[in-house]
Amino acid sequence: RIRAAIFASGTGSNFQAIMEEANLPVEVVLLVCDHPGAAVIERAEQHGIETLVFQPGAFANKEAYEQTLLDKLQDAGVTWLFLAGYMRIVGTVLLTNYKERIVNIHPSLLPDFPGKDAIGKVFRAGVETTGVTVHFVDEGIDTGPIIAQQEVPVLPEDTLETLTERVQHAERRLYPAVIRQLLEQDERKLDNHKTADHYSRQF
Ligand code: GAR
Repeated sequence: RIRAAIFASGTGSNFQAIMEEANLPVEVVLLVCDHPGAAVIERAEQHGIETLVFQPGAFANKEAYEQTLLDKLQDAGVTWLFLAGYMRIVGTVLLTNYKERIVNIHPSLLPDFPGKDAIGKVFRAGVETTGVTVHFVDEGIDTGPIIAQQEVPVLPEDTLETLTERVQHAERRLYPAVIRQLLEQDERKLDNHKTADHYSRQF
C-alpha cells in the first residue's frame, strides 16, 4: 500500500474528507501540523493517526525544520504528501525529495486568487464564478501545475459564509477523487515496474 502524509494547519475538513473516502488506495500514516492548537490534531487522534506537531519558530530556518520532517517522513516510508490547508510555503528540502509528489488543494480557480483568504478575496471581487483547484506544489505560492479544477457559482445572495460552505463542499468532493486517480496511476506504474523487474531477472 502507498503510504502518505497529510500536512494541515487548521480545521481539517479536507483531512477528514480524505480519511472518510472509502477504499482509497493509500495508508495515511502521519499528520504533519505546524500549529499546536489546531483542530485537525484532534481529528487525527480520532482516526488513530500519528501526528507530528512542530513549531517553525523553534528552528533556525525552513531547511532545518523540513530536514527534521523529511527524516520522519522517510522513516515512515511516506511517498506522497497531501497538503490540506497547510499555510506554509514548501521549501527545497521537501520539494527535491518529493518531486511531483506534493499536492495541494486551493479554494479558487487558480491562477486567480492565490495565497491566503482566497474565498474572501473572491467574495470581495464580486466575480460570478469561482471554484477549487488541486495542483502539484512548486516553490511558488499556489503556482504549480494544475491537476484538476471544479467550478463553483457565486450567487447574488451569497454571504461570505454561504460561499465558503459551497466552495469547501466542492473541495471535500474533488480532493479525495483526485488523490484516488493519482495513486491508482502510481500503483499501476509500480506494478509495471515490478513486472519489468521480474522479466529482467528471469532472462
Ligand atoms: C481550505 O479551504 C483549503 O483549500 C485552504 O484552507 C482551507 C483549510 O480548511 N487552503 C489554502 O488556502 C492554501 N493556500 P480545512 O482545514 O478545513 O481543510
